[in-house]
Amino acid sequence: MTRAQATAELARLSALLARANTAYHTDDAPEISDAEYDRLRQRNALIEARFPDLKRPDSPTEQVGAEVAEGFAKVAHSVRMLSLGNAFQTEDVTAFDTGIRRYLGLSASDPLAYTAEPKIDGVSLSLRYEAGHLVQAATRGDGTVGENVTVNARTIGDIPAVLTDAPAVLEVRGEVYMSHADFAALNRRQGASGGKQFANPRNAAAGSLRQLDAEITRARPLRFFAYAWGDVSAPLADSQLAAIARLNTLGFATNPLTVLCEGPDEMLEQYRGIEEQRATLGYDIDGVVYKINDLALQARLGFRSTTPRWAIAHKFPAELAWTRLQGIDIQVGRTGALSPVARLAPVTVGGVVVSNATLHNEDYIAGRDAKGGEIRGGKDIRIGDWVQVYRAGDVIPKIADVDLDKRPENTHPFAFPQKCPECGSDAIREEGDAVRRCTGGVICPAQAVEKLKHFVSRAAFDIDGLGARQVEQFHQEGWIQEPADIFTLRDRYGSGLQQLKNRDGWGEKSASKLFAAIDEKRNIPLGRLIFSLGLRHVGEAASNLLANHYGTWRNFETAMTAATVGEGSEWEDLIAIDGVGTVMATSLVTAFAQETERASIDRLIAHLSIQPARQADTSGSPVAGKIVVFTGTLEKMTRAEAKARAEALGAKVSGSVSARTDLVVAGPGAGSKAKKAADLGIKILDEDGWLALIGAA
Ligand code: IVH
Repeated sequence: MTRAQATAELARLSALLARANTAYHTDDAPEISDAEYDRLRQRNALIEARFPDLKRPDSPTEQVGAEVAEGFAKVAHSVRMLSLGNAFQTEDVTAFDTGIRRYLGLSASDPLAYTAEPKIDGVSLSLRYEAGHLVQAATRGDGTVGENVTVNARTIGDIPAVLTDAPAVLEVRGEVYMSHADFAALNRRQGASGGKQFANPRNAAAGSLRQLDAEITRARPLRFFAYAWGDVSAPLADSQLAAIARLNTLGFATNPLTVLCEGPDEMLEQYRGIEEQRATLGYDIDGVVYKINDLALQARLGFRSTTPRWAIAHKFPAELAWTRLQGIDIQVGRTGALSPVARLAPVTVGGVVVSNATLHNEDYIAGRDAKGGEIRGGKDIRIGDWVQVYRAGDVIPKIADVDLDKRPENTHPFAFPQKCPECGSDAIREEGDAVRRCTGGVICPAQAVEKLKHFVSRAAFDIDGLGARQVEQFHQEGWIQEPADIFTLRDRYGSGLQQLKNRDGWGEKSASKLFAAIDEKRNIPLGRLIFSLGLRHVGEAASNLLANHYGTWRNFETAMTAATVGEGSEWEDLIAIDGVGTVMATSLVTAFAQETERASIDRLIAHLSIQPARQADTSGSPVAGKIVVFTGTLEKMTRAEAKARAEALGAKVSGSVSARTDLVVAGPGAGSKAKKAADLGIKILDEDGWLALIGAA
C-alpha cells in the first residue's frame, strides 16, 4: 500500500465508521454487522500502525462508541432455553419417530402422538411469573444466560402482567414477532422520519424488543405466541396440547394451527397444510415443530446437549434467490487459511437479507474440486456475475449456480491472491490442500488475532472477562500481539499513565477482576495448554492424547524439538499414539521447528505453571509404559473398551506396529499387523492371553 492509498483508505474508513456509529447510536438500527464493524476498525488500526504519521485527527481509534452498549443486565435461566434439532426431509421426520420409538422401547405399531405447530420466525422470550405477577422477561441469550428485558416485555399487549389461577411459579416461553402488515407500516414510518429500514420482520422484532428505552418498544407493534414453558411449581397439564390450552386460558395467545397427529403420516400432512397457508398467515414462519404430546414421555426422552429428544423443527426447503456478486473478500484465519467470501447485492432469501456467502476456497470459485471434478457444472464464479444464493436452515449461505447468459462482457476469472491480503506474505498451497495459506505466521495480524481468539476460547484458556471482543480490542490498540502478552497486561496497564481501568468500557473493578482472572489461569493443565497453542490439526481431543502420552510439558517439548518429520524415534513415538496421524504429527513437529512460532511459545511458557497430565497410579501394572497394539476381532469386549482398559493400566495403545511395539494382542482375522509383529519378533498374545496378563481373565 502506497502512502497515497493509505491516506485515501483512512479517509474512507473514518467516514464509514462514523456513519456506522451514528446508525447504531441514534437509531438503534445498525447498518452493518458487528463483525463487519470490527473488521473495518481493525483495518483502520493496521493502516495507522503502518503509517503512524497519516493518522487522522478524527481517527476512529480514538472514538468512543466502538463498544456495543451493554445496557441489559444478564439473567441466568433457571431452566435452560434450548434450541431444536432440524429435519429437512420426509425421511428425517420418519427417522425422528423411529429414533424415539427405539429409545422408548416402543414397536412400530404402538400408538405415539405428536403435536404439530408452526415454527414462528421471531425472537424467543421467557416470562417468569411469581404468584401470578410478571417478575422477569429474558431473551434466550446463549441458552443459559439471557438479557433482562422485563421493562420492554411489559409494553407488549399480548403479554399479560397478571395471571389468575396460575401455578405459584410459572415460566412461559414463546416467540416475540411482528406481523407483515405491522412490519410494512413500521418501515413506512421509519422512512418518513428518516429512520432506518428493517430488513425483515424478525430483525424488526429483535431490534424493537432490545431497546434500552422501553418507550421505543412500546411504540413498536410486537406480538407474542406462547408455545413452551420453563420452571413451573406445578405441572400445567399432562399433555403438550392440554398445556398449551391451559396457557391460552391463562391469557396467552397460542397458535391456532397447533394440532395433534398420530404419527409421521399425519405430521407430514400437517406440514404440507401449514406450508400452503404460509403466504397468507400474515407473519413469518420457517417450518413446523413436532413435539411428543405425552409430557411423561417428554420427561423420559429428555435432552441432548442443546436440543430436546422429544421435539424437532421441520424446516421449509432451502430458499433460492438470484443476485449480483459485487466482490470477493479474502479473510485470513488462525492457521493462515485464506477464505474467500462473496459480497452480494443484498437479497432476501427465505426472509433473511443475505449480503455474504461463503466461497470456500479457490477451487470452488474456479468450479473444480481438488480431484478435478466439476462444481456447478464447471462454471466459475466471477465478480459481476448473477449468482443463485441458497440458505438451508441456519447454514451459511452458499452459491448454488451462476447465470452465464447474464455474465457481463470483459469479466475475468477471479485471480485468487498469491499474497496474504492482511500482511503481504506469500500465500501458498501445499500439495493436496485446497486451501491457500498465508506464510506470515505470527507476523500476520489477522492470524495473530484469530490465534488470540482461539487462545482465550472456552476449551482453551477461558479467561473470565477476556473474550474475542476484548482480545480484538487489545490487539487493535497494540496492547497484546501474542498470548504471552496477556500475562504481562497487569505490569504494563495495571498502573501508570495508560491504565486499563481508565479505558472505555472498563473501570477499577472490571480491570482488577480481569487481572485476577488472568492470574488464575497461569496454572494450566497440560492438555489445555497444548490445545491453546492453536496448532493446525491439533484439536482438543488430540491435545489431551498428547498430554496423557507425554505427561509433562518438558517431555512434550523436548520430544517435539527433537523430532524430525518422517524419521527417528521421537517421530515414531509420536505417530504411535493412537489418534495421532502423520498430518497432525507433521504439523506439530513443523510448528516447533519454526523459529518465530517456537519463540512465541517459549515466551508464553515462561508465564505459566503447567499441571502435568494426571497419570493413574500404575505401579505394579504388568503393562505400564508398554506400547500395545490391538488387531483382529476382540470377542469379549469392544475395541474402545480394550483400549480404555489398557490405558488405565498405564499402557500406550498404538494403531500401528513398529520396532518400538512391546506387545500385540491379535484376535481372529488379524492380518498384516500380526505378521509384521511376528517378523519383528514382537510378543503376540491372543485375547485370553492378554486378559490373563492383566489379571482380568
Ligand atoms: S419449542 C425445548 N415451538 O425455534 C425447545 N420453538 O430453533 C423449545 N420457535 O429457540 C422450543 N416457534 O425460539 C418451539 N412453535 C415453536 C417455535 C419455537 C419458534 C423457536 C424457538 C427456539 C427455536 C429453535
